[in-house]
Amino acid sequence: MRIELTVNGQRQEADVWEGESLLFALRERLGLPGSKNACEQGECGSCSVLLDGSLVCACLVLAAQAGGHEVVTVEGLSNGDGLHPVQEAFVEAGAVQCGFCTPGLVVAAAELLRQNSDPSDDEIREALSGNLCRCTGYAKIFDAVRLAAERA
Ligand code: FES
Ligand code: FES
Repeated sequence: MRIELTVNGQRQEADVWEGESLLFALRERLGLPGSKNACEQGECGSCSVLLDGSLVCACLVLAAQAGGHEVVTVEGLSNGDGLHPVQEAFVEAGAVQCGFCTPGLVVAAAELLRQNSDPSDDEIREALSGNLCRCTGYAKIFDAVRLAAERA
């Protein structure tokens, strides 16, 4: 089936199979590999994207369900060629090790700061609770979100 959707501000069309996930369509059909595929079960958050402004796991959304809707991936967060402030903060705080979790965390953190520019530690913890990281122990990730919030 053919779907039309808006991805990172651009109208896109894709031929998808009925059971195909939005994550697969983004990565394999639309050339956007930033959203990562780790668990495919909604457990890790590495595939986090915004669907009509709501944070979702793209592995749990059918591509067909996204037809007619607006998707923002990690590739679409920044304006132009530069990094998004949350991406800059992750780099500066040393919050990236293998990097597999990073796109999902960046999308989740950017959405948190869009809604709440001065989150408490508990609010950061809750906002990122759906995103797992096997490498960092989370301390540097929290530092990065605080750094981005200070600069917001
Ligand atoms: S790949 Fe989607 S939540 Fe893990
Ligand atoms: S940096 Fe490796 S999983 Fe988070």
